[in-house]
Amino acid sequence: MRLPALAASLACLTPTLVHANPIDERQSLMKERGQIMRALGPIAQGREPFDAATVMDALEALNRNAQAHDVAALYPAGSEGGDAAAAIWQDLDGLRAADDKYKDDVAAAFAAAPQDLDAFRVAFGPAAQNCGACHELYRD
Ligand code: HEC
Repeated sequence: MRLPALAASLACLTPTLVHANPIDERQSLMKERGQIMRALGPIAQGREPFDAATVMDALEALNRNAQAHDVAALYPAGSEGGDAAAAIWQDLDGLRAADDKYKDDVAAAFAAAPQDLDAFRVAFGPAAQNCGACHELYRD
C-alpha cells in the first residue's frame, strides 16, 4: 500500500478507535437506551397501543445500541467516574458477562419480530430485566 493511501485509511479509522471521552460515550449510549425504553415500556404495559412496525423500529434501535456498547473501549482503566460503580474496575469480567447477556436478550427480542402484544411481551420482558439487574451491581 502506498503511504498516502495508508495515512488516509488510518485517518478514517481513528474516530472509531479512539475514545476521547469514554464517560460521555457510555452515558450517551445509556441515554439513548432510556429514550427507546420510554417508547417500548408503555406499549408492553398496555398503556400505548401495540403497532408492529413501531415496535420493530424501536427493537432495531435498541439492538444497534446494545451491540455498540463495547466494554473494553468504554470502561478502560482511568475512566472511573460518572455514575459507573467502582466495582466495574475490580470486576470487568462481571460487567462484560452482564453486558453479553443483555446483548443476547436484546438480539433475541429483535429476531423474534413480535407481531402482537403477547409475543412482544414474551420477547421484550427478559431483555428489559437486564437494565435494573446491571444497574444494581454496576451503577452508583
Ligand atoms: C451491562 C450493564 C448495563 C446494562 C445492561 C444497562 N446499563 Fe444503563 N448504565 C450502566 C452503567 C455502568 C451506567 C453508568 C455510566 C456512567 O455514568 O459512566 C449506566 C447508566 C444509565 C443511565 C444514565 C445515563 C446518564 O448519565 O444520563 C441510563 C438512563 C441507563 N443506564 C439506562 C439503561 C437502560 C434503559 C437499560 C436497559 C435497556 C440499561 N441502561 C442497561 C450499565 C448498564
